[in-house]
Amino acid sequence: MTIGIHDISAATGGLVFALADLADHEGIDVGKYHRGIGQTEMSVLTDDEDIVTMAARAATPILERHGVDGIRTVVFATESGIDQSKAAGVFLHGVLGLPHEVRVVELKEACYSATAAIQFALGIVARRPEERVLVIASDNARYELDSSGEATQGAAAVAMLISASPAVLEIEPVSGLWTDDVMDFWRPNDRSTALVDGRYSVAVYLDSLEGAWKDYQSQGGAAYESFARVCYHQPFTRMAVKAQQRLARIAGDADAAGADTEHLAGTTIYNTRIGNSYTASIYLAFLSLLDNGPDLSGERIGFFSYGSGAVSEFFAGVLVPGYKQQLRPESMERMLEARRPIDYTEYRRRHVEFDRPGDFETVDETLGAVRFAGTTDLKRQYERR
Ligand code: COA
Repeated sequence: MTIGIHDISAATGGLVFALADLADHEGIDVGKYHRGIGQTEMSVLTDDEDIVTMAARAATPILERHGVDGIRTVVFATESGIDQSKAAGVFLHGVLGLPHEVRVVELKEACYSATAAIQFALGIVARRPEERVLVIASDNARYELDSSGEATQGAAAVAMLISASPAVLEIEPVSGLWTDDVMDFWRPNDRSTALVDGRYSVAVYLDSLEGAWKDYQSQGGAAYESFARVCYHQPFTRMAVKAQQRLARIAGDADAAGADTEHLAGTTIYNTRIGNSYTASIYLAFLSLLDNGPDLSGERIGFFSYGSGAVSEFFAGVLVPGYKQQLRPESMERMLEARRPIDYTEYRRRHVEFDRPGDFETVDETLGAVRFAGTTDLKRQYERR
């Protein structure tokens, strides 16, 4: 029996902020952002969008195509949770009108948890192949204004249906794992922006890749030469270049410096325009490859998932022949093009106004079908248009 990703769909915020405007304001060369970190824009949420509305927007095309039969588990992976107790997935369950006979949980470990969600889903389907699991990765990546991480914000959700006999990607059983208790990025409970030791986090990411890859090999993982592409967690797309070069070096690739060109081709297009999306970012990279790359039916794709703190995993899957017919590239392009550009003043105002105490109503501005209307008696309210 094969198990893996049967369908995949993404959504992002309704606004877009150009990094050229940030560089302008800072009085620096935009090359630092465009080439140095590999980002041109970041998605920004409208007042009435959050991780639940993005998740609903990402999951809706999947549910419209496949229905809800057999979905008895929803796993919502996020760093940017909206409640300390109630899982964001339960709000999603409500707005999507999913059946009551479903278990729903939220998973957290910085940018890694969507990969854990997929692994848990694979286990559930292995035990009961008639079941399907809806995995959601949704995050609003926020750093402090004027901090080193500011240029690496963004927002997106990726929804995936995990099933037996998948139509997109058969996930192979071997994983390489690496966990290390470090403080490279964290967010105390009273903060809505992450704290980060940026350069240290880059070093820990690369060391974790080495650890996870070596474990992957020791567990009987596939040879480096058999990978057509590798999808990386992309806090900024240049990170994937650094990572692929490190992997090539460890794996003994004679052309380590140029290894990124072939192995990353197609995987950074969406992330360059959307910015960091924490847990969603590696699966956004995968969707970018599916939508924008050549037909790689039968080819092996590697995945390196990294979550600061730090937990990481290297695993692989094989693309199912005919997978291109399952995709919706035009809908992603439409969503990206529909984002309303905001200038520096508006970007900054929205950033500051994000934290609102007490009850409030939001402005009606999302283009999605589900909106976050605000809070009443400190209860989050969602409505369908
Ligand atoms: N043209 C082209 N490249 C330029 C440039 C220019 N005008 N100016 C600078 N650069 C390059 C630098 O050489 C550097 O490249 P390198 O990493 O290959 O050496 C890159 O742009 C970034 O410049 P740097 O001075 O290192 O930026 P920074 O210290 O302000 O911030 C991060 C970089 C990644 C540390 C910062 O964005 C951050 O904290 N991000 C959040 C944390 C994160 O994403 N961690 C990743 C692991 S999860």
